[in-house]
Amino acid sequence: MTNKSSENFAFPDTLWRRKVRTRILNWYRRNARDLPWRNNLHPYRSWVSEIMLQQTQVATVIDYFNRFIKRFPDVVSLANAEQQEVLRYWEGLGYYRRARQLHLAAQVVRDQHDGEFPTDFESVLALPGVGRYTAGAILSISRNQRLPIVEANTNRLFARLLLHDEDVMSSSSQKRFWAFAEWILPRKHISDFNQALMEVGALVCTPQKPDCKGCPLKSICPTELQQCWERIPKPKKKTKYENLFEVAVVLRDPKSKFVLIRQCEAGERWEGLWDFPRFECSVKKPKQPTRHELSRISSKLNQLTDCSATQLNWLTQIKHGVTKSRIALNCFQADVPRRKRKLKENLKWVHPDDLNNIPLSVTGRKLAKSIS
Ligand code: ADE
Repeated sequence: MTNKSSENFAFPDTLWRRKVRTRILNWYRRNARDLPWRNNLHPYRSWVSEIMLQQTQVATVIDYFNRFIKRFPDVVSLANAEQQEVLRYWEGLGYYRRARQLHLAAQVVRDQHDGEFPTDFESVLALPGVGRYTAGAILSISRNQRLPIVEANTNRLFARLLLHDEDVMSSSSQKRFWAFAEWILPRKHISDFNQALMEVGALVCTPQKPDCKGCPLKSICPTELQQCWERIPKPKKKTKYENLFEVAVVLRDPKSKFVLIRQCEAGERWEGLWDFPRFECSVKKPKQPTRHELSRISSKLNQLTDCSATQLNWLTQIKHGVTKSRIALNCFQADVPRRKRKLKENLKWVHPDDLNNIPLSVTGRKLAKSIS
């Protein structure tokens, strides 16, 4: 027997549904991880955690979340902070647009909702950086509102429960999963239920070698019954990484010991964050650059900063992977004969000790540590 949802998708029967609901909730009550955003459920805390958890692993988010909430305990403290400070607290989490939008959204809440995080779906959805999943997650988890969720862990779980073998991100798959998420949602215990779906996806129904023996749904999951988890969900194409070769220069004023930093502009990889002047440039043997390579570095440095450097000394090579790039960053140090009075707006001289309070790119932070 099948059930037609409002969107005309065929799902299993209501007995099956009841089993999924009960088993998943019972399992969650025994197995939920003790995560900081699960204590003291509040829409603000839930919002911050959900934004951090977009594209980032739980294990990485825990410390960031705790530090962030300590410094910005409520939405107004976040709204009133300088964007640079918010970025400093986000530094290392990546995808900095999330932090800029979080800050902007906090100002919307301060100015348009009297500083109280809204609790109606439409107002939450209207906040910058919040989509259907995030709005549903915040309000279902922190307020038990009856709203469905679909995200990376549930995509995988739903695909296996429905024996769905198409690309999970296609629009037809997403339509089916949202309809399923609505259909499977119980009337009560929404917060636990939605978190349980994600938790089973994260801990049991993993992409590789799922723990089907330990799964609360093992006797009612068609993918387990057919032993076909390797092809469901449909494996993604392997990411193709691009190798990039870049150079960064620690330009130093020998008198004051100040170093020059540059704020990354809109469209650049680390928009809004600061970095040592850097650019694309490959250097075959960085310890012994050729004369031609040195003159190319000097000319690119000059284009970016209007500063000319005396001798360039090789410092170190930093390797870093970001989204689809693998970067090999060759770092040099050079003194400037004279500090320019007038600098472009996105440049500033700072004492190395002050770098601690400035949001830097990941590789910029590594380089800053290596010179301190
Ligand atoms: N991934 C996304 N949201 C999550 C949450 N609230 N708990 C655990 N993992 C998550």
